[in-house]
This record gives sequence, C-alpha cells and structure tokens, in this order.
Amino acid sequence: MLSIEEAFRKFKSRLELNEKETTNASNRQQEVRNYLDTKFKIDRSFLTGSYARWTKTKPLKDVDIFFVMKASEDDYLSKAPSAILTDFHDALVEKYGDKARKQNRSINVDFGVKADADDNTDYRVISVDVVPAFEKGSDFQIPDNGLGKWIGTNPKIHADKAVQAHQAYSNEWKGLVRMVKYWNNNPKHGEKPVKPSFLIEVMAMECLHGPWGGQFDREMQGFFSTLADRIFDKWPDPAGLGPAISDSMDLARKQRAQTLLRAAAREATLAINHSRQGRNGEALRAWRELFGPKFPLS
Ligand SMILES: Nc1ncnc2c1ncn2[C@@H]1O[C@H](COP(=O)(O)OP(=O)(O)OP(=O)(O)O)[C@@H](O)[C@H]1O
Ligand SMILES: [Mg+2]
Repeated sequence: MLSIEEAFRKFKSRLELNEKETTNASNRQQEVRNYLDTKFKIDRSFLTGSYARWTKTKPLKDVDIFFVMKASEDDYLSKAPSAILTDFHDALVEKYGDKARKQNRSINVDFGVKADADDNTDYRVISVDVVPAFEKGSDFQIPDNGLGKWIGTNPKIHADKAVQAHQAYSNEWKGLVRMVKYWNNNPKHGEKPVKPSFLIEVMAMECLHGPWGGQFDREMQGFFSTLADRIFDKWPDPAGLGPAISDSMDLARKQRAQTLLRAAAREATLAINHSRQGRNGEALRAWRELFGPKFPLS
C-alpha cells in the first residue's frame, strides 16, 4: 500500500505544471496577444502571478498575463482604472463573447475547457486573467476597479520572496502552498475560504517557516493550524507597493475562513492519528477527503 510519504509526493507532483500545460499556456498567451495587438499599443506581455512562481494549483485556471502598454497609451493612467478595463473588456468581447468577463483588476477569458471529476483538463488551461499594466521604474501599475485607483505591484519581488521561502524550507514550500490552495479551491466549501488565494502564499512566507520538519502530514497539520490562528492578522503586500492582501476579506469572510481552516487542521490531526495507530488506509482516505480527488489512494 502507498505510504503517507509516497501519497504526498504523488499529490505534490500532480499539482505541478507539466510541459503540455506550459505549452498550452504559451499558446493561449500568444493568441490573446496577437488579437490585442490589433487594438492597443502593447510593448510586451508575460505570464505571471502564481503560474510563473510555480505556486498555481490545479485545475489550471485564471493564469495571469501582464500586458505592458507602450508609453503612447499613458493617457489611461490619468483616467479612472475602469476606463482601461472597459476598453480591454469591450475588445475581448468582440473575440470571445460572454467568455470575456470584467473583474476588478483584469479581464477573465474562459476557453470553455471543463475539468473532469478527477480535476483533469487534458493539460489545457481553463482561463486566463488579462491584466493591463504600465511600467513604473522597476515596478508596474495596474488598475484596481474595487479601490478605484491604480495600484503598484512587482512580480519579480513576489517571485524572489517565494524562492527564498522555498529554499529555507528544503524546497518543499511551493509544494505545500499548492496543496493548501488546492484545498481552498475544493467545491465542497462553496465559496473559497481564503480569497484571494494569493493570501495563502503571502501567509505561508511567515507561517510555513523553515526548517522543513521532514514529514508532510505533520507540516500540513501545523500549516492549517497556523493559517487559522493568523487569518485575522494584517498581511501587507510582500513588495510593499499594493494594498494589504488581507484587505480583500471582510470580518465575516475571515471568520468563515478561520472555522474552515480549523476544521482542516482537526481533520489532519485525525489522519495523523490513523497513521500512528497503523491504519494507513484510513489515513489515506482522510487526507483524500480533506484535499480532494488529486490526493491519491493508490
Ligand atoms: N494587493 C496586491 N498588491 C500588489 N500586488 C498584488 C496584490 N495582489 C496580487 N498581486 C500580484 O498580482 C498577482 C496576481 O494576483 P492573483 O490574485 O491572481 O494571485 P495569484 O498569486 O496569481 O494566485 P492564484 O493562484 O489564485 O491565481 C499576484 O501573484 C501578485 O504578484
Ligand atoms: Mg492569479
């Protein structure tokens, strides 16, 4: 029978990007870029966010693409952020119809790919988030229609901090972040407990601190428990540029997240107890119940 260690390793690798997926993501980026080039003066585009940091979970959706505008589009910066979002949305609707949806900081383009019961998509990206961006020194400005202003961000700083955390944790950090984001995405919760899920990654920079203790189950139990304890803390943008990441959750949402994180920590404790008492099959089933179909039973 699969050991708990083997099960977690398999789970981890199932949440990793593979070559077919990265090829599909690049092709989608190119497709959207080719189209938007006919509408806007775009300097360059790149895949970013959790996708580029290797902290994206499965199924693969909402892959962020920054479209860095040329200086000749600078007029947008003196307007409300809704102006560029509306223009991008209108343009994308021409090509993608109602599959293009306006969000607070981006336009989501859905490619109509559906995940199956095991969360597989035949290695295809479900959707991308098109983010218009302007360069500002070594940082970027992106529209935030929720706040009604342009906000600063820096994907390079976020990526560097994730690498630091990963290395300080024997290179297991990104794997655990993907796992908790997978738990967070589980439809059993209805709405995601932690929203935005970037908050899980930001909290992990402190809550999943090295050294790695050597056992996935124990580390995961401690991680859920610390996330529950600290969900009410203020979590600033790790780059110190944008609004606090925790600002997107109101009190009721944080309360709900805490309850669900505590329940997950408790389920993890019970799973560990099964292992201790030699009930490996029960332990595997408990972890599967906690995470969802990508956690293997065999
Ligand atoms: N409040 C913020 N201030 C500055 N930058 C932010 C802020 N929120 C998000 N970002 C940046 O924008 C990126 C995309 O945001 P998003 O909410 O899609 O998070 P994500 O890390 O990509 O997570 P997910 O896996 O849910 O897509 C983040 O990875 C981060 O680099
Ligand atoms: Mg994202």
